[in-house]
Amino acid sequence: MKQSICVKINGRVYEDEVEPRQLLSFFLRETIGLTGTHVGCVIGECGACSVLLDGRLVKSCLLFAVQADKREIVTIEGLADDGRLHPIQEAFVQRYGLQCGYCTPGMVLAAHYLLGRNPDPTEEEIRKALAGNLCMCTGYMQIVDAVKEAAKKVNR
Ligand code: FES
Ligand code: FES
Repeated sequence: MKQSICVKINGRVYEDEVEPRQLLSFFLRETIGLTGTHVGCVIGECGACSVLLDGRLVKSCLLFAVQADKREIVTIEGLADDGRLHPIQEAFVQRYGLQCGYCTPGMVLAAHYLLGRNPDPTEEEIRKALAGNLCMCTGYMQIVDAVKEAAKKVNR
């Protein structure tokens, strides 16, 4: 039997009926249409599906949509401001922190979560913060550089 949920996503309130077993990642992509939340492994390993839930970084493939009821989510689509990239997104572009882009929404949100708590992280802290996000393309150097650049931007 479907259950009603009410969830705020990127500042907008959505009310819907969902199957109790529907994963949050698929709810965001297929029901809401926010396909910036990518789905890779669906077992909590790759981080491509990361979103912020009440300000905390979570893997949306490890949650059911019903667990987001009466809570607030920010997806990658929620970072840009009126079509202008968020400074962290700009830093990823400037430092070539992506190739195919599959991991990028999760990487950017993991960086956002880190910099919100630690605006001036060391390289070790950056690598630790990104440890739950896998990239099959870049070898991570450019991604770490992008987060360093992002830290400079958000501290300006
Ligand atoms: S799809 Fe969620 S962690 Fe890989
Ligand atoms: S840029 Fe392709 S998986 Fe990271």
